[in-house]
This record gives sequence, structure tokens and C-alpha cells, in this order.
Amino acid sequence: MNSSKNRVHKDSTPILILDFGGQYTMLIARRVREAQVYCEILPYHTGAETIKQKNPTGIILSGGPGSVYRSGAPSCDPKIFDLGIPILGICYGMQLLAFALNGEVMEGKKSEYGKTLVTISKDNSLLSSTTFEGNKTFFAWMSHQDEVSRLPTGFETIATTSDGNIAAMGNPTLGSYGLQFHPEVCHTDQGTKILRNFLFQVCKCNPAWTTENFIDKAVEEIKSIVGPHQKVVCALSGGVDSSVVAFLLDVALGKRAISIFVDHGLLREKENFQIVKTFKNRFQGNFIHVDAQESFLKQLQGITNPEEKRKIIGNQFIEVFQEKASQWGKIDYLAQGTIYSDVIESGSLPSSQTIKSHHNVGGLPEKLGFKLLEPLKELFKDEVREVGRKLGLPEAIISRKPFPGPGLAVRIIGEVNKHHLTLLKKADHILQDELENYPSFKEEVWQFFGVLTGITAVGILHERRTTGPALALRAVSSEDGMTAEWLYPPVELLEAITKRINQEVPEISRVILDVTSKPPGTIEWE
Ligand code: XMP
Repeated sequence: MNSSKNRVHKDSTPILILDFGGQYTMLIARRVREAQVYCEILPYHTGAETIKQKNPTGIILSGGPGSVYRSGAPSCDPKIFDLGIPILGICYGMQLLAFALNGEVMEGKKSEYGKTLVTISKDNSLLSSTTFEGNKTFFAWMSHQDEVSRLPTGFETIATTSDGNIAAMGNPTLGSYGLQFHPEVCHTDQGTKILRNFLFQVCKCNPAWTTENFIDKAVEEIKSIVGPHQKVVCALSGGVDSSVVAFLLDVALGKRAISIFVDHGLLREKENFQIVKTFKNRFQGNFIHVDAQESFLKQLQGITNPEEKRKIIGNQFIEVFQEKASQWGKIDYLAQGTIYSDVIESGSLPSSQTIKSHHNVGGLPEKLGFKLLEPLKELFKDEVREVGRKLGLPEAIISRKPFPGPGLAVRIIGEVNKHHLTLLKKADHILQDELENYPSFKEEVWQFFGVLTGITAVGILHERRTTGPALALRAVSSEDGMTAEWLYPPVELLEAITKRINQEVPEISRVILDVTSKPPGTIEWE
């Protein structure tokens, strides 16, 4: 694949976070970005030379599940301690810092878990009583078994727990600090302030990472990458990422940007109209709507195997897209809505087994010889939303919940045909409509949807026994879709949805609730 060098220039040098496998690494990065400081997450074993080349203002060593004194424990390149760059070790990161600099770490007599009272023993740039309105004590979130039992040379204890353990250590001359607790989680009092102290007091970072700056630079970057006579095509799905990419391209390239929306008919009711309405009137560039509903349905006829369905949809998508794109003559780039979590996931999951073959535009660049343009590659989802807002995208698109590429096809067990699609679209529309009456639940859910289960159950229609499909309702909460907890929707909401489905879609004989988390289930049924 041809990958272009489409990094956005930074005003400030970055904070680098070395990831030791801790569950909160991404959260640390979020907190740093919220402080308007650009940061990147790198694998823990990244070499000192690579780190040096990135010219970081500071390095954060994340938490992790290992024990530094065990053989094979994840460790960083020891040369990073000689670079003269401020370092903050968090939990495992602090233990590693101590261990690597000739301190001592051992298994604690008991683990510390949850909110723990911490006392500042010496005011310093990171932790000072002024941060806590003059108090020297505060609650911090701990989650560890090992502890630093002897400080490395040049470090001093700057905070302790009530058991007398070292809660934080520092070497102000080096600008290196260690926190046994997690400042990135909301359960640590003033945790954000502590992190900010590291960024601004210790590392002297420049808070230049803002949405406006990002847009200006992304536009400038796209213009500098794409030659004056070159064209860029974008596959618009109607989701927030591809929509923001399309808007950015439109600002940067105008008529040389071609956004193609392949309408496969598997979106929610009326969603295709909304996409067309949004883009048709706003683009200076080219917006192409391809109504390919019939061709997708035809290909899916008689297909019940989930993987086969996905492959057919993916291939059909490429075929339709290719045909439309070829009408524009030579196209040089394909712009994709890859975001930072996609980049991290693909890099940090070595065992990334294909659980389901996800349908996206991944096959396109190889097949068509496009170069790739990924202007959102450095943004987190909420940053993408913020950029979208600034670019004037409607809120309905910005706050759209994640939706699978193959659309409703993976929510219809068995054959995807017009009848099944109509039933699911009607039922799903009712569900989404009623959800609007429960804003806090809407906020809480990652996704809330219906699945035509392929089970046929007996019901009564017009006072006669009939059989009809059973619809499962599925509500889950999740951070990133990798794991998920099932959620119990408010009973009144369930009642309202079921009542309307019974009345408005009487062909559906049963409404049931799916109470499976991920793992062991996946979020979608197929
Ligand atoms: P699963 O079902 O794998 O879903 O637990 C995790 C998240 O991914 C979405 N999903 C997809 N997204 N193409 C996508 O773009 C796909 O083929 C696809 N399959 C699942 C799913 O909706 C959930 O948010």
C-alpha cells in the first residue's frame, strides 16, 4: 500500500507515552490532549534513538500488569534515562523508573487498591499543597501489589500513604517523577492538575494543540501533499469520521475532491436521505450519491453465512465505488477516516485475530493503485467530533453512534431480503425514536439496536395464530467496542418500544432482550 507522509506539523514538540500494557494508557493520552498538548503513544520497547528523533518535551511511562523484578518483564531502552528529558512514571512506570535507576522494588505486604489517602511530604513542582487548596492530604486511586522499597539515587519521597509507603518520588534536578497512583483517573483528587503540573511546570509544554490549529494545519497539509492537478476520492459512509474527512477535503481542495456515497440500502430508515441532504447542499466539491440498493440485495439473495455476507458486501462496495470513481479520470489519492485509536489498535494488538472480517474500504488502495490520505490519523474520536463541529457538520452526524460498515445486514440472521430489511428498519426506527425520550440513557449507551434473530415464534395477529420473527433488543456500554457490558434499558422505554412494535410492525411476533456482555458475545450478532 502506498502510504503518504501526511503528518500534521506541530507547534510544540510532543509528550511521548510509553505503553507498558496498562488499562489506562489511552486515558493518559486523552488527559494530555485535553491540556492542549500533543502526545503520542509508543510501544514500551521503542528505542532511545527513535524517541530522541521525535524531540519530546517529556516522557510518560504508563502503568502495566507486570512486575519489574521478574524476568521478561516489559522494560524500556535504558538509554532514555540519559536523554535529559523529564520523565513521569505512573504506577508500573514509577516502579520501572526506580528499578532502572538502582532503586529497589518488591512485592508489598498487601496490595493497595482503590481510593487511598496520600500526604504530601515535600512541596514540589508536581505535587504542592496549593494544588489542594492548602491541604497536604488528598485521595488518590491506587491499584498495585509491588512497591518501591528503596529510592533510586538522587530521588526523594514527595508523598506517602498512611501506611508509610512511598506514594510519589521525585528528582527535581532531572525533572523526573514517579506516582504510585493514577492521576489520569477521575477518582484521584486533582489528578488532572497533577498531570498538568508535569506538562507545564516540569516539561514547560506549549498548549498549542487546539481544534482550530488542527483544521488550519490539516488543510495546509492536504494542499501540500496533493499536487495542483491531482484528485482525491473519499468513500463517504455517513459516519462521523468519513464525514469530517470529506468536509476537510472540501475546504482544502474544492472541486478536486470527490466524495462518493455508496447507498447499499443497509443503513437505517431515512439515513441515506439525511446524508444526501447534508452533503449535497454544502459541498463546493463533488458529492456523488450512488443508489446501489438493488444490486446489493441481488448479490445477497439466498446467502445466510455471516462471513459470506460480509465478503459479498465488501466486494460489491468496491465494485460500485470503482465504477463511479473511474468516471473521474485519474484519481491519485483515497482519503480515509482512520483515527488514532485505529492506529494504536492495529499496532498494539499483535495477536489481532480476525474475529469478523470488518467491511471497510481497506481493499481499495491496493486494488486501484491509490495513495492513502489519512488526515484524522492523529485524532481521538472526541477530537474528530470537535473538528466536525467547527467545520459545521450537523449534530446528527457528529453524535452518531458507531454503526457497522455492512449495516443492518449483520443484524438480520439468515437471508437479507427486502421483507426482512423493511421489518428491521421499521422496528429500529421505533427504537431510535423512543430513545430520544431518554437522553441520559442515550448518552450512556455505546449502541442500542434491534436484531432480527432468525427465530420464528408463534403469535396472534388479527385474532389468529400466526408465526413471525423474533426481534432481540441489544443495549451495550463500551469504551472502544473491544469489550462491552450489556445494559438494562429503562423499563418504561422497553415498554414503549415493544408496544409500538406490536402495533406498527405486527409481523414481529416477539421482542426479547439480549443480556450478553462482550466477551463472551460480540456486540453484533453476526
Ligand atoms: P463486534 O460485533 O465485533 O463489534 O463486537 C464491535 C464494534 O464494531 C462494530 N462493527 C463493525 N464496524 N464494520 C465496521 O465498520 C464492520 O464490519 C463491523 N462489525 C462490527 C460494531 O457495531 C461495534 O461497535
